[in-house]
Amino acid sequence: MDIEKKVWEVLCSKEEIKSRVEEMGKQISKEYQEKNLLVISLLRGSFIFAADLVREITVPCKVDFMTTSSYGHSQETSGEVRVVADVSTDMIGYDVLIVDDIVDSGTTMAFVKDYIQSKGAKSVRTCSLLDKPSRRKVDVNPDYTGFVIEDKFVVGYGLNFGDYYRNIPYVFVVTDQDR
Ligand code: IMP
Ligand code: MG
Repeated sequence: MDIEKKVWEVLCSKEEIKSRVEEMGKQISKEYQEKNLLVISLLRGSFIFAADLVREITVPCKVDFMTTSSYGHSQETSGEVRVVADVSTDMIGYDVLIVDDIVDSGTTMAFVKDYIQSKGAKSVRTCSLLDKPSRRKVDVNPDYTGFVIEDKFVVGYGLNFGDYYRNIPYVFVVTDQDR
């Protein structure tokens, strides 16, 4: 599908994202006082969200990254998660906050949560910009959610379509309608 030729419906505008991310940053800052916060951004989808979120966090925090295998160019999860690039920080003693772009089937978030816990983190919580609860296959719910959305394939603000459009500054849905 050539999405350039279709009408894009904005689901979360730049302004909506900005104000929600500010709120989330405030809440996280409040709940992580006296903690040893380590944010782990799951690449590549969460790089923009994580970059904006950490700038709204006012308590000391470290940032690390991790890449897991994901959808690639298909829109369905294989149900299998592989670590493609591991964290480089020792997890011992950290209150880890895993940040992702979207929780869909939940497979990725559940896997990463277990994985980080098994590395000895002091606590592990999860944060996702978007949540599609109707698609859940694994029992996991983000501790911090930006927006709960319907079962639609979304693009932009880090989320890709055939590896493009991550740079679009809002979240959109591609409609059937021609431009
Ligand atoms: P899960 O393991 O099924 O929860 O899927 C998680 C990953 O799939 C996310 O981190 C995204 O990278 C990708 N994904 C799921 N839904 C969408 C979508 O609507 N648009 C773009 N990527 C998605
Ligand atoms: Mg992802």
